[in-house]
Parts: sequence; structure tokens; C-alpha cells
Amino acid sequence: MKLLVTGGAGYVGSAVAAQLVEAGHEVTVLDDLSTGHADAVPPGASFAQASLTDAAGVLDPSFDGVLHFAARSLVGESVQKPSLYWSNNLGGTLALLEAMRTHGVRRIVFSSTAATYGEPESTPITEADPTRPTNPYGASKLAVDTALTAFAGLHDLGAVSLRYFNVAGAYTGADGRVYAERHAVETHLIPNVLAVALGRRDAVSVFGTDYPTPDGTCVRDYVHIADLARAHLLALDACRPGDHMIYNLGSGAGFSVQEVISVCREVTGHPIPTVIGERRPGDPAVLVASSERIQRELGWKAEHADLRAIVADAWAALTR
Ligand code: UFG
Repeated sequence: MKLLVTGGAGYVGSAVAAQLVEAGHEVTVLDDLSTGHADAVPPGASFAQASLTDAAGVLDPSFDGVLHFAARSLVGESVQKPSLYWSNNLGGTLALLEAMRTHGVRRIVFSSTAATYGEPESTPITEADPTRPTNPYGASKLAVDTALTAFAGLHDLGAVSLRYFNVAGAYTGADGRVYAERHAVETHLIPNVLAVALGRRDAVSVFGTDYPTPDGTCVRDYVHIADLARAHLLALDACRPGDHMIYNLGSGAGFSVQEVISVCREVTGHPIPTVIGERRPGDPAVLVASSERIQRELGWKAEHADLRAIVADAWAALTR
């Protein structure tokens, strides 16, 4: 297929673009490089440095589909600057959808998030659970999911939203290239812990030890980037005109912040000192996915569900 990958210079988008190229698809990456890196675009893909509002000039009727990653994705920043999130994530996506409609491109796989659910009533979270986002990031992604349902019905679009839980690790392509997390502002737990082992930070802050969890720290569901990326290829094949399907993507197992830090100690051999801090506003105590729907309907399964393997791959990418 001929495919546009928006945000294909970012962590998840570049790994998916690499898997698409490896699978024989013709890939064009659209990215404005506001947070991505040009050298993350896989060899074999063409690259257009452009924003979502320029998508109409990059797409043409010969495209078969779009995989849409380009977005702002920091929860804390979204609380400080909501208009940035609404304009980029919702406004940018509406411009992309209009461009797709203009050119008759009818297939889209969208990068959605567990943040659309907010504080869950029960775990594991299923796609039927209430969506009550607790920050503008999650709200903007949920608004896109809502728009996709409407566009699918109105314009015969085939859409799939993948709601990611905590993506981590690194993907090594068939040619040996490594696609890893490289954020200018790093807020995620695993890269922050590994930065201590690398000597770039003195200690990692543990945001809250008084949650109603076995060790008092937040529990999350970590999914390996290689598994997550593979789900996009399955989703692309599953797009059906007129339908919008939503799937959770996680490994189905929860690990606390303290457990993640212990695994990082084992993998790196570094003592990794911690500092106990306040709770981070907006953090739910437990976020674990039921990925039963995507397993049943698309045949996806996490092949690297072992947290140790996820951390080991992230560490190998940092120390190679
Ligand atoms: N944490 C720390 N110290 C750190 C960084 C994180 O204790 O230095 C804690 C957080 O408070 C949280 C857990 O580690 O309890 C995981 O935090 P991350 O920032 O790695 O991930 P989040 O669960 O906050 O966010 C992820 C995605 C978001 C998405 C969200 C869905 O990165 O894009 O899951 O809830 F919105």
C-alpha cells in the first residue's frame, strides 16, 4: 500500500514506519520536527517536513491510507497549555481528515491513548468502560476518536483507533537500526530511571508512595514498542469502510513504579537511588489494559510482555 505516516519522525511513528517499509509498503513520513528527529525517519521512506495543516499538499489520490501519530503528548504540558493540545491534536487531525476526504483516501489508523479513560472504575480497562479524561491531552485524543466515528459513518472511512497504555523499549529494524525514545523533555518513568544508571541524573523521583496499591506506588501496563508497532499493521489491514473500531493496547500486566525501578537495577547493575516525591497531579493509581478485544479480533498478542525484556531493550539502545 501507499501510506502517509504523520509523526513518523517520533518514537512510535518511526518504529511503525520502519515496520511498514520492511513489510513492503511505500511510505511517506509527514512531520514538522517540532518534537521528532529527521534521522529517525527510516531509510526507504520519503520525508516531507510539513505540519498536519499542509497534509492536503502532501496527500494525493494514489495514497491508500494514513497512520496518524503527529500530536502533542505530554499530560502535564496539556494542563498548562490546553489550546496547544486542542489546536494540534484536534484541529490538526480535522485538517488531515479533510485532506483525506478531498483526495479520497479512506483508511486511517489513529494513535489514541489510555488517557481517554481517565481514572478507571475497575481494572483491567476494556473498550466498553467510560471515557472521562482528566486532562486536555486525553480529552483532545477522545475528541478525535469521536470525530473518527462520525467521519467513518458519513464519508465511508475505515478507521481504527489504538489506545496505547505505557509504551517502552526500543525496536531494532531488520537492518539493525534502532528506534528508541529520545524526547527533549523526558517525563516517562523508564527513560528517567535509566538516565540515573547512565549518570545523567543523580536520582529518580518516585511520585507518590501513598496510592492504594500493594507498595503504594502507581501501577502501569508496559507494552513493548515492537509489539505496539506490529498492531498498527494488523489495524491497517482491518480498516473497513464505514467502520470505526477502537482497541486497547497493553500487555495486560501491571507493574508498580518501585517494581520498574527494581527491574532497571537488575538490568543495569546500578543501584539507582530514589527520592520520594509528591503525587504527580492527574496520575491514576492503576492503569492496566484488557487487550482481549484486539487479541480476539485482530490476532494481536504481546510477544515481549516481560518487563525485563522491555527495559533491557531500552537500556541496550542507550548504551550501544
Ligand atoms: N513516574 C515517577 N517518576 C518519574 C516519572 C514517572 O514516579 O520520573 C511515575 C508516574 O507518576 C506514573 C508512572 O511513573 O505513576 C508512569 O509514568 P509515565 O510518565 O512513564 O507514564 P504515564 O502513565 O503518566 O503516561 C502514559 C503515557 C501518556 C498516556 C498515559 C495514559 O505516556 O501519554 O500513559 O494514562 F496519556
